[in-house]
Formats: sequence, C-alpha cells, structure tokens
Amino acid sequence: MGFTIAVDGPAAAGKGTISRALAGHFGFGHLDTGLLYRATAARALDGMAPEDAAAALGPADLERSDLRTAPVAAKASEVAAIPAVRASLLAFQRDFARRGAGAVLDGRDIGTVICPEAEVKLFVTASPEIRARRRFDELIAAGAETEFEAVLADVHARDARDMGRADAPLRPAPDAVEIDTSDLSVEEAIVRAVQIVAAVRS
Ligand code: DC
Repeated sequence: MGFTIAVDGPAAAGKGTISRALAGHFGFGHLDTGLLYRATAARALDGMAPEDAAAALGPADLERSDLRTAPVAAKASEVAAIPAVRASLLAFQRDFARRGAGAVLDGRDIGTVICPEAEVKLFVTASPEIRARRRFDELIAAGAETEFEAVLADVHARDARDMGRADAPLRPAPDAVEIDTSDLSVEEAIVRAVQIVAAVRS
C-alpha cells in the first residue's frame, strides 16, 4: 500500500526543498506538479491551445530548459485556471501518488483535490516579502537583472491568481499541518516536516 505525502503552498515558500528532502529521507518518489503546469504553459507560449498542450504532454516537455523562466511561470499560473487543463493533468498525478512504497507530491491542490486521502498533508507558507526576497536572491545569483519590488509584485500577482481561481484554488486542506518557514532555516523546516511524517508512519 502506497503512502502519500501532499505538500501544498504558495510560490517560493520552500515546498520544493521540503518535498525533495522528504522523498530522500523516506525513499519515496517525488513529483513537482508545478512542472506539469509550466510545461503546458511553455507549449502554450509556442502557440498551442493550453487545453491541447495539457492533453498531449509527454516526458520531453518536462525536460525543457525554459520551465523555470519568469514568462513561463506567469503563463503557468494563467493556464492553471483553465478547468480542462487541470482535468487533463489529474490522472497522471493520482497514478503517481499511489506508485511504489510512497510518493511526495508538491503543488497547490494536492491535499484538497488530487489526493484528499493522502496520509500526510503539509501546507508550507511564508510571508510574501520573505518569499519575494528568496526568489530575488536566486534570480540575482543566477545573473538576472531585476528589482526586488518587481519580484514582490510578481509574488502578489501569482498568489492572487492561484488563490482566487474558481477551480481548485490554493488553500490548505482542513486536516493539513501548516509549516511557516518565514523564520526557519532550511534545515529546521526539513526537520519539522520529517518529524510530522514520522509521527504518522510509526
Ligand atoms: O509551483 P510552481 O511555481 O512551479 O507552479 C507554477 C504554477 O502552476 C502556479 O502559479 C500554480 C500552478 N499550479 C497549480 O495550479 N496546481 C498545482 N498542483 C501546481 C502548480
């Protein structure tokens, strides 16, 4: 019987880092579900209808080098509001969740829509300013030229779209455990997440 860990939260709250660490610690598979929406967005930016792009998504689409760029992130948040896009990506995520000994899925609606039966649900948050600061530092380290205010405006815009859409909006499942990483180091956040999961597994 598989063991599913659902990790939801807004952009740059630390859910990817926590999810990868959990998968490594427990020997589970990991799916970054945002990549599915980013890959759909990248094909939409190439000119394909988002609904068709989501339905035709293949492994090569997830390997594209432009998935982490700002235009793709912004478009991902747009295509993610289209119900037909979300419906196309649902079965793949549910299958992944029950594959092998266990799986960690991170995204926005894993605990609420994709895997409401998940054994553990985490909701990873941090203040918009802290998330924007982290994203800004990453961008500067990667050689990008940008202003903090622009990154903060991006974070607010994506939050508003992700939380405001009618279909599967970002929100914690009623039984999710919240981890606010605003004042936690990466190591502290990981230790907390591992403890929460370990308490359920034992
Ligand atoms: O986690 P991310 O930044 O890679 O996600 C990109 C976009 O995809 C984000 O704006 C919201 C959307 N998304 C979603 O709607 N549902 C998910 N499970 C994962 C991501």
